[in-house]
Amino acid sequence: MNIRREELAKGTLSSTNDMLSGLLALRDENHQPLADDIITDNFILLFVASHDTSATLMSLMIWKLSRDPEVYKKVLEEQMEIIKQREGTEDRLTWAEIQKMKYTWRVAQELMRMIPPLFDTFRQALKDTNFQGYDIPKGWQVYWAACGTHMNNEIFKNPNKFDPSRFDNPPKPIPSFSYLPFGGGLHYCLGNEFARVETLTTIHNFVKMCEWSQVNPEETITRQPMPYPSMGLPIKIKPKCNLS
Ligand code: HEM
Repeated sequence: MNIRREELAKGTLSSTNDMLSGLLALRDENHQPLADDIITDNFILLFVASHDTSATLMSLMIWKLSRDPEVYKKVLEEQMEIIKQREGTEDRLTWAEIQKMKYTWRVAQELMRMIPPLFDTFRQALKDTNFQGYDIPKGWQVYWAACGTHMNNEIFKNPNKFDPSRFDNPPKPIPSFSYLPFGGGLHYCLGNEFARVETLTTIHNFVKMCEWSQVNPEETITRQPMPYPSMGLPIKIKPKCNLS
């Protein structure tokens, strides 16, 4: 950190260079630099919040596609259609193409409903609060867990059924703060759009370039506390031979 500090002071490094430089250049309300432990805390938060969650979602996608031929077929069709409709010879995914990956994202949404990467967290009551007849004194920690609404039959009919189409045109709108894979309110995940693009891009390239199968087809998902394939999700990968 000290080398970066010196580089920032000398002007040989910009505060917009990366996250760490940004945190080191930041000043608090008294125009003082942030303490090292605050910088470290924020840095670790970003690692866990961005890397582990996205890696979890992508692993869940690979796990699901390996074991559900119907879902795999539809995802493959959607992705291949995108390549087929591509004009010109440029073999690169575009922003507009990512917006067309509706079904693939519905699969991710449904996975996050049933197996949310981050399934719970806390909130602290900043003032005495009453919620549905319960008094919550100022300073108390309130625990919320996504499964309370994600698996509620009143909100998501047949909650144990994997059905990506439920996000298409739900018979009744999903009430606010009921579908919470990215949280809600002030602390709503600020990386949600990045996670969507990252996941869709990865799955697009994966289904385009290879075929694969699970080494352990009976593998289940456990929690550590994030969802984790119980056997580490080993897969056998075979490149698709029609690729140059
Ligand atoms: C599938 C991927 C992801 C999932 C499921 C996810 C989930 C969540 C959830 C549930 C929260 C709210 C936590 C709370 O209410 O206390 C959150 C917050 C946050 N997420 Fe994500 N996230 C994902 C990807 C990312 C990525 C890619 C980034 C950064 C590039 C990111 C950065 C953050 C940050 C910084 C917060 C804290 C926001 C705040 O407290 O104001 N997340 N995320």
